[in-house]
Amino acid sequence: MDTPPRIPATDDPIAGFEAWMAEAAKSEPNDPNAVCLATCTPEGRPSARMVLLKGVDARGFVFYTNLESRKGGELAANPFAALCFHWKTLQRSVRVEGAVEAVSAEEADAYYASRARGSRIGAWASRQSRPLESRFALEKAVAEYTLKFGVSEIPRPAFWSGFRLVPDRMELWRDMPFRLHERRVFHRVAGGWEMEMLYP
Ligand SMILES: Cc1cc2nc3c(=O)[nH]c(=O)nc-3n(C[C@H](O)[C@H](O)[C@H](O)COP(=O)(O)O)c2cc1C
Repeated sequence: MDTPPRIPATDDPIAGFEAWMAEAAKSEPNDPNAVCLATCTPEGRPSARMVLLKGVDARGFVFYTNLESRKGGELAANPFAALCFHWKTLQRSVRVEGAVEAVSAEEADAYYASRARGSRIGAWASRQSRPLESRFALEKAVAEYTLKFGVSEIPRPAFWSGFRLVPDRMELWRDMPFRLHERRVFHRVAGGWEMEMLYP
């Protein structure tokens, strides 16, 4: 079967994403930047969870987490990931796929410093993804770190940082009547992007 050729993309899909995100920021009741992040073990076993997108530019999509979490371990072993946004109010979705890289220490420090003090303490107290014996154990850890740091600066834990997903494939999906949705897929090529449409 003949497949139609990909054409050089006239739009930049990251700019397209940013425009949709700006609209979602006005229309979604909360967390327009919430996104499902899929990672995978080297054996090919996937896992998915929600994170918050904390930065996007021509370089890629940034989120922050505990590096010793399940997702952190999977990304260390297999540095590829996928993101799937869904904005219910707009009936739009964006998919992003590519390799992940660590953000710089300066970038992570700057974002960590911008977080509420309670969230900075929470990052220290949470052994994310590991078994928790009781809710009390978590509250005790929070109380201990609150006492330890007092009113001083709270440094970023070495086990807490960010990843940047560098997209090589993106899809902008729009709801259309009778489930004849619009799917525009962008593939990164030397010097830019190529676009193709997919059947819904
Ligand atoms: C809307 C929403 C946003 C979230 N944002 C983050 C986030 O930015 N970073 C993070 O580590 N976990 C975030 N979480 C929690 C994760 O979904 C997940 O429970 C946690 O990261 C542990 O995942 P893991 O065990 O697969 O590593 C968020 C959860 C929800 C529902």
